[in-house]
Amino acid sequence: MSWDRNKSTSEQLMVEVLADTKQALTLDEIVSEIQRRDPSALTGKTPKNSLYSVVYRREKRRAERGLNSLFKTKTRGSSTYYSLNLKGMDAIGDEDIRKMKIPHVIPYQGSKRKLAPQILDYIQHEVKGTVYEPFAGSAAITIAAATSKIGNSYVIGDKFSPLISLWELIIKDPNYVAEKYERIWNEQLDDPKSYFLDIRKQFNSEPDPVKLLYLVARCVKNAIRFNANGEFNQSSDNRRLGMRPEKVSKESFAISSVLEGKTKLVAGDFMEILQDAGPDDLVYMDPPWQGTSLKKDPRYAYLLDIDELIAGLKDLNERGVPYLLSFDGTCGDKSYGKKLPDYLKLERVDLNAGRSSQATLLGRDDVTIESLYLSPVMIEKNQANVKNHGEIKIFA
Ligand SMILES: C[S@@+](CC[C@H](N)C(=O)[O-])C[C@H]1O[C@@H](n2cnc3c(N)ncnc32)[C@H](O)[C@@H]1O
Repeated sequence: MSWDRNKSTSEQLMVEVLADTKQALTLDEIVSEIQRRDPSALTGKTPKNSLYSVVYRREKRRAERGLNSLFKTKTRGSSTYYSLNLKGMDAIGDEDIRKMKIPHVIPYQGSKRKLAPQILDYIQHEVKGTVYEPFAGSAAITIAAATSKIGNSYVIGDKFSPLISLWELIIKDPNYVAEKYERIWNEQLDDPKSYFLDIRKQFNSEPDPVKLLYLVARCVKNAIRFNANGEFNQSSDNRRLGMRPEKVSKESFAISSVLEGKTKLVAGDFMEILQDAGPDDLVYMDPPWQGTSLKKDPRYAYLLDIDELIAGLKDLNERGVPYLLSFDGTCGDKSYGKKLPDYLKLERVDLNAGRSSQATLLGRDDVTIESLYLSPVMIEKNQANVKNHGEIKIFA
């Protein structure tokens, strides 16, 4: 990203720091990072106060003009953390920044990476405890929450244990993952098709986590599939070689830097993963959709048992645990799944997930709407926060 002092206003410098660090920061941290990069960038005796007043004035002006805000703020204790509001990027017209993404390293079909900012918008209270993601897959929400400083610690769980071993390595030893992936990726170059089959065979006799990363990155639609014996049987997508090693390295280090030392990894069923969750925590759940689970050849390693899910949600309600649940959804005129029972007292909001890749391939304009359900305790906590802080947010 460019660091052009002639063009950059102090607000742009702040945007660039937040875009580069991919983390929510306090104004003090932002100011010292700007000064580290260019000691003459901010002038005046109290650079923090001047930066604050520039940002305050400009955000006010944007609001008056009906534009999105450029920054999001979250208060934790006595500190206010700033992060970029991706929806507000148009306001400054910087292509690089608009492309800025939350780091991700496991390309996983159904990943919530793009929807993460919309989902996090529904967390409108301070999460004092742990953020749990028991159907983690690519752990998109955990990573987005950690970069936005939501929650103090994290639990990443999934029933597919090689995936959890992979997460453990990415977080604790990103260098090992980067080096091993690079070796595997380079070795494939002579004959990518048969190399993929070789690695698949090796993975099925001994489930090595980095080999899993390679298989997921190279397989059709990044969709893991298994045969009746639980063996990985998805084919390779022969039009591409999989995520490049440099990207795997960069993203693994970025993720490790936000999750190391505060993340617990659990392989198991979602309710085992959630056994210690309490009212100060937050749970985000994205179980495999009914629409896909009922098919013979499931996308994910394990089928979702709808009654088990409902029993779990009921239990979380009784324990006072706030949660968000991605479930159901419609795409064009096709709708998946059935309604969840009224007694769970969930509130549904519709998220616009954009055009599905399938619809794009078929030249159709279908927009995928994904449902997000807010649990009763979640709604209560958000409303209590609105009352205490006067923050107004209207639920769709
Ligand atoms: C829809 S994917 C989650 C995608 C994820 N939100 C992301 O952003 O990548 C569902 C995940 O749930 C896992 N899973 C299926 N049944 C489970 C269960 N009973 N308990 C825990 N995890 C389960 C699957 O292995 C799969 O990784």
